[in-house]
Amino acid sequence: MKKSIIKGTGMFVPPNVITNHDLEKMLDTSDEWIKKRTGIEQRYWINQEGETGASDLGFEASKIALKNAGWTAQDLDFIIFATLSPDIMFPGSGCLLQAKLGLDSTPALDIRQQCTGFLYGLATADAYIKSGLAGKILLVGGEVHSSGLDKSTRGRDITVIFGDGAAAVCIEGIETDKNAGVLSSALHADGNIADALMTELPASRLPFRFPADVPLSDPRYFPVMDGPAIFKKAVRMLPRVINESLEKAQITLDKIDLIIPHQANMRINQALGQFLKLDDNKIFHNIQKYGNTTAASIPLALHEAIEQERIGKSGDVVLLTGLGAGLTWGSVIYKFL
Ligand code: UT7
Repeated sequence: MKKSIIKGTGMFVPPNVITNHDLEKMLDTSDEWIKKRTGIEQRYWINQEGETGASDLGFEASKIALKNAGWTAQDLDFIIFATLSPDIMFPGSGCLLQAKLGLDSTPALDIRQQCTGFLYGLATADAYIKSGLAGKILLVGGEVHSSGLDKSTRGRDITVIFGDGAAAVCIEGIETDKNAGVLSSALHADGNIADALMTELPASRLPFRFPADVPLSDPRYFPVMDGPAIFKKAVRMLPRVINESLEKAQITLDKIDLIIPHQANMRINQALGQFLKLDDNKIFHNIQKYGNTTAASIPLALHEAIEQERIGKSGDVVLLTGLGAGLTWGSVIYKFL
């Protein structure tokens, strides 16, 4: 049977570093608060001049992933783009990326699953490969948050967290008897608590999606979050979904070489490690440098973990997990061929 094998990864962040001290000049916060409560020291934001969308960041990451895979864009037979911050309302960033790659008929699918977009994307890629619908897939997670943040003190809980960036993975269906590739995936969603983390406007459900009586400075035009509620959900649901994916893969936690969690808050990931009774070196952190890049966060960390040779050798097993808006949460286990 064909297995979904990662052939190359790439990442890209815009050049503009925003430190916690830079944020102190914009709104009422402090380097100390941000580091202590989230672990974040800096993030990257696009330049305010010119136009840079999620597909532009994704394009740069894709070029690196394709090069590392030894592929050209023409080799691709499917593109999946995970983002909550598409370049424009429609069409999706996957189509825009496809054109940037010089392609004109390769199918392109956008996934709107926020922090778990990459996990849903990887499970989708795996299903496409195993069903024979695709053989060489480019999966991208990319976000431009900075142009949509409330940069006043009112939005400080979210604004200090989010960073821009993209990462890409080339996945190929390879015939092998080895137990390798995507071993299992466990995905969940609970739309009953969608309002715990959302951007409400513009809303197509309204008679006019930019309501005339609501000024553009209204908080409904910006992401809002019940941070403590999401934090508690993450600490409760992530261990469960990790166990579910372990059971599906029929392996035990001690066989996992590295856990790469979504980088939403260092304290969530430390709590996860304590709950699972794991050494901190078994859990990958890079939130210090990038903040929370939502759909880009897991592939960005995966790329860095491979570059740092923390994982990537034949037989290494990595567990990817995360929880975010939707709510959505999930876990995917991958074994290197
Ligand atoms: O990626 C998608 C999923 N998202 C997450 O997983 C995020 C989960 N939640 C979190 O990471 C945390 O809840 C936050 C980092 C968002 C907030 O940290 P917290 O420790 O839960 O703080 P809090 O919301 O309970 O607020 C505590 C205090 C409040 O002040 P008072 O009411 O105690 O006076 C806030 O107004 O901290 C204040 N605060 C800030 N102070 C300085 C909130 N944001 C900031 C800030 N700087 N940026």
